[in-house]
Amino acid sequence: MRSFLLTFILAVGAVASLGATSDYWGDYTWSYEDEPTAAYYEKHGKEPPQVAAPVTTVKVEKSYVVKLECLGCPFRVRTTPETWQEPPQDNSLLLNFTIDNDARTLLVNGKRIAPLAPAPLNIYAYQTPANLSADIMQKMVDMQMLDESWNVGTKYGTFALSYEHTIAPTAERFVSLLQFNITNIDIKYGQYPGGAALEQPEQKFVQLTLSRANAEEGLKIKQIELVGRDSRIKAAKLPCGRDAPVYRSIFRSTEWDYYGQQGTWMRTWHVVAWQTGDWLEAKIPIFILIVICAGACFLVRWRAALMRAKEMRDETEDAEAALLEPEEIKEKDKVEEVVEKLEGEDEEPDDALPEATKPSLLD
Ligand SMILES: *[C@@H]1O[C@H](CO)[C@@H](O)[C@H](O)[C@H]1NC(C)=O
Ligand SMILES: *[C@@H]1O[C@H](CO)[C@@H](O)[C@H](O)[C@H]1NC(C)=O
Ligand SMILES: *[C@@H]1O[C@H](CO)[C@@H](O)[C@H](O)[C@H]1NC(C)=O
Repeated sequence: MRSFLLTFILAVGAVASLGATSDYWGDYTWSYEDEPTAAYYEKHGKEPPQVAAPVTTVKVEKSYVVKLECLGCPFRVRTTPETWQEPPQDNSLLLNFTIDNDARTLLVNGKRIAPLAPAPLNIYAYQTPANLSADIMQKMVDMQMLDESWNVGTKYGTFALSYEHTIAPTAERFVSLLQFNITNIDIKYGQYPGGAALEQPEQKFVQLTLSRANAEEGLKIKQIELVGRDSRIKAAKLPCGRDAPVYRSIFRSTEWDYYGQQGTWMRTWHVVAWQTGDWLEAKIPIFILIVICAGACFLVRWRAALMRAKEMRDETEDAEAALLEPEEIKEKDKVEEVVEKLEGEDEEPDDALPEATKPSLLD
């Protein structure tokens, strides 16, 4: 049973959210309240709602939401505290395949996968019950739950995806095939880390046929389907008879963190650089204090030295005055002027100085 507290927090989150498609919190209750069970429908003599299709068309050739069954995956229950359901109910991952506004790139859950953005390409996907109803799916689409701007807390947990990404040209001009094969789902951080490998033989993945006949039309999703694990792309034949290239990249989300890929020098360097930065940042107030203290000490000592020099000079000058040559007397005079200027405005004016400290040579 989902706790009342969580519902309350999520409701408050819904009200407080900005940039969502509705200002009225009641429009979001579907995203955090429990859906009625099959037993409920039976008890009330109602037909259970239709289950959402594996592929929902949002905009033909441009945007599709895939509900991919995640066979044998653990199920996150977002109560407070969060738990893993035992045994986990059948569940699915939601993937939003959309051609970006520039009509040149394909995004999945907001991240660019064609052309593939450089790693680390952390893609996150919501997990829903496998029997998510078509009605709720339509609400997700209408209110753009799979958009990066969505910031209402929901009962649906997310996972980081590890995947195999394969893209290859086909025999048809300007048409290529893209396979997005999820290999693992993970929660890397936080209190409840965990995940699973998608290893079951019946596990499916998403295959897209993309075309880009000309710049005007832009990139199009000609076909999107769920295919079996072993439907590997066969390289097309080039006109010269050779095989066309097949580009495959593998991304393992747990091998990457904020700093880079585990076990690489680049990551070590980033960690060192960031930690040094953090250390310095944490010490900034102390640094400022040290600088202020050092500055104050220097000023005090400088002034003291200046005073001492002046006192010593005054003492010796009386004795030496008679012996000095006229030129030297003039030079001494200048030095004295400078010294007095350096001592600054806060010094009492000459006239107010006690008789003994007045330059005796001027007498
Ligand atoms: C959906 O699946 C869950 C878990 O198997 C089940 O408890 C629930 O009754 C199902 N809901 C409907 C409407 O069939
Ligand atoms: C799918 O992603 C696109 C691009 O990020 C976004 O504009 C759109 O709103 C998303 N669709 C849904 C249903 O959230
Ligand atoms: C998809 O990934 C699974 C698990 O890593 C692998 O066994 C399978 O061969 C892959 N299929 C394709 C077509 O890449």
